[in-house]
Amino acid sequence: MNETFDYARYDRIRPIRWTGVALELLDQRKLPFTVEYLTCTASDEVADAIHSLAVRGAPAIGIAAAWGVVLAAREVMAATSAEALEKLEPALQRLNAARPTAVNLAWALARMRAALKTAGNDWRGSLELEALAIAEEDLAANRRMGALGAALIEPGSGVLTHCNTGSLATAGFGTALGVIRAGVAQERIGKVFAGETRPWLQGARLTAWELQQDGIPATLIADSAAAHLMKTGAVKWVVVGADRICANGDTANKIGTYQLALSARHHGVKFMVVAPSSTVDMATPNGETIEIEERDPGEMFGVGGVRTVAEGIVAWNPVFDVTPAELIDAIVTEKGVIEHPNTERMRAAFG
Ligand code: MRU
Repeated sequence: MNETFDYARYDRIRPIRWTGVALELLDQRKLPFTVEYLTCTASDEVADAIHSLAVRGAPAIGIAAAWGVVLAAREVMAATSAEALEKLEPALQRLNAARPTAVNLAWALARMRAALKTAGNDWRGSLELEALAIAEEDLAANRRMGALGAALIEPGSGVLTHCNTGSLATAGFGTALGVIRAGVAQERIGKVFAGETRPWLQGARLTAWELQQDGIPATLIADSAAAHLMKTGAVKWVVVGADRICANGDTANKIGTYQLALSARHHGVKFMVVAPSSTVDMATPNGETIEIEERDPGEMFGVGGVRTVAEGIVAWNPVFDVTPAELIDAIVTEKGVIEHPNTERMRAAFG
């Protein structure tokens, strides 16, 4: 696919831009009606942007954090890389604390630390090269996963996706949305449904818009319409991304993913998780031990700044859930496809 695929047509959005002096982040809080980049010149501004969801999606927050380390490097005086490692640690910790569930954040910071450990006198230059490599590897992984995942889908199938896993959530092309881009281009996918993804509306605000940029028609559904849609037979696959894939294949992803997997199994619909190997966390044995981020219940009290809920109502706002491995038909990473994931198959693929 790589030789013939028209990436220029299908993949034009870039959420993260490094200018050489600053990090520009496409402000996803304002999409789809305002396309505006937020400029960060300090690492704490990057941590704030990650926490406030100006930049979001597991791979994208890892990449943004890596650039945050590059910015932090400009704020410290250190003659050697060992000294820099010590002085940068507080900034790295603040970046790491910005969001807890997606392992890509800690993974990218670990890579930046490792790069610093082996860096010479030009340790700032080494950090910049490492951040660039993280971003470039992510884009390449997404393109590979697009080909691998699309190959699993029978021509003419309908698919349902959740949240936003596209260029907006990655260095470009996307994970689950990359599979959908590739699948549509190959006419394997005949129809795309996107769930709204309450409460932050990543599906309605971001995925529907992103696909529209590519000329891929998507049909938006309320999250609560998913089981009914599956019952009609209109979708053959649910295709989603991941924030953390455990050693046994249990997968954390946007809240609502678990109920899609349950419903898919009931209706004989296949369930595919698409994520780069940077999302695989072999140190976490299963989903029980993943920290699930809980955000401000205020995110549930209104839409677009307009309050829709009476004052004094109590809400609970967990923003991720865990889908058990036994409900997953395929995990697609750039290293290959793991069908019916379990501990043995994960270990064989990731050591
Ligand atoms: O809260 P978000 O918008 O960062 O959540 C994003 C998701 O859950 C995505 O499905 C996941 O990060 C994969 S993005 C390629």
